[in-house]
Amino acid sequence: MGKSKKYGMNTKALHANKRFEPISGDVMPPLHLSTTYKNDVPGESDYFYGRINNPTRELFERTLASLEGIENYEEQHAFAMASGMSAVSIIAELAKPGDNVVITKDVYGGTTNYFSRIIRDRGVEVNFCDFADHDALDSLLNEKTKLVWIESPSNPSMKLYDLQKISDIVHLYDALLVADSTFSTPFITRPFEHGVDIIMHSTTKYIGGHSDTLGGAVLCKDPDLHETLMLYQRQGGAIMSPFDAYLVQRGLYTLGPRIKLHSENAHKLAEYLDSSEHIKEIRYPGLSNFKNHEIAVKQMDYFGGMMSFYLEEHIIQEKFWQSLDLYKLAVSLGGVETLIELPYLMTHDKAQDTEASAPVDLIRISVGLENIEDLIEDMESALNAAKK
Ligand SMILES: Cc1ncc(COP(=O)(O)O)c(C=O)c1O
Repeated sequence: MGKSKKYGMNTKALHANKRFEPISGDVMPPLHLSTTYKNDVPGESDYFYGRINNPTRELFERTLASLEGIENYEEQHAFAMASGMSAVSIIAELAKPGDNVVITKDVYGGTTNYFSRIIRDRGVEVNFCDFADHDALDSLLNEKTKLVWIESPSNPSMKLYDLQKISDIVHLYDALLVADSTFSTPFITRPFEHGVDIIMHSTTKYIGGHSDTLGGAVLCKDPDLHETLMLYQRQGGAIMSPFDAYLVQRGLYTLGPRIKLHSENAHKLAEYLDSSEHIKEIRYPGLSNFKNHEIAVKQMDYFGGMMSFYLEEHIIQEKFWQSLDLYKLAVSLGGVETLIELPYLMTHDKAQDTEASAPVDLIRISVGLENIEDLIEDMESALNAAKK
């Protein structure tokens, strides 16, 4: 895709790499499972061993890099990993004993747990703070800061941070700004456009899109950093399997239209919840009365499929869960089906005793692709059934 600049995002998702067209004329690229490759001359083949490179994984790594706006995506490709957490872990490898890491308070519970236990045990100082408070963030940064970790929208409170402003603060120091862009995907926000240095995704979510593949991805623009992360990916060995790479590549083809529909559905559901007497507070970036709506308009192309809310006191939570039909009470997000959960006891249970605990009674929804009238009706009847 030599003229990539002139193509739109959906075209990029489908045509990032012509190099992988097979001799049979298959319209869709095949799944390469071989773990080793025949060389003509020792040491001179493009492909060598499956952990190091694999054509199916490479296609995904290049397409995602193209979508995140990396122009030389063939060389500066993404790193596809076995899970979102293994993506977190190769980035965390960059922090050495004596360094410090600063993380937004409201992040995925697994990330909080990983940094506050495993990374702290390696002798790295880990601090959490609310990045909306720029002075508090600035006070934690110093010459030892290696990584600053952000999620926008944050998980599960849906806080938004102005990425460019955070980047300006972080880059007063010799630190790298990392964005976990799992909730957004490049069809909503492309963090490199806002000064972010490293992007990570749990591809288990929107990119896979069907709740049937686990994976992660890491991207950066700096060539030296790319070399280092490539070493951690290939020698650490927690690479994405070819079959998962095949599924997430397939996910990229429909990611644009899915994100559009997830966002349209979520917006309508959020408007309904906002007007409901049974809901105390609804947190959705697309609502004009949402605290961070201005930031959303500035850095999001769609408002996304994620939201969270608090029930009014007169709703019995247990009855509410039991009365829902289309909303599945389950962790994870970004699939075609609608999921609902209580982060404090589910996705963020391991963060309960940390500075980054989720609010006890906040409920999170990942809005799927069902007919929105049905989702609203199901919500309304569950709320009515759960009244005291
Ligand atoms: C925002 C976010 N980042 C990272 C992860 C970890 O990803 P995985 O479960 O694929 O390891 C998750 C998982 O829920 C997540 O929601």
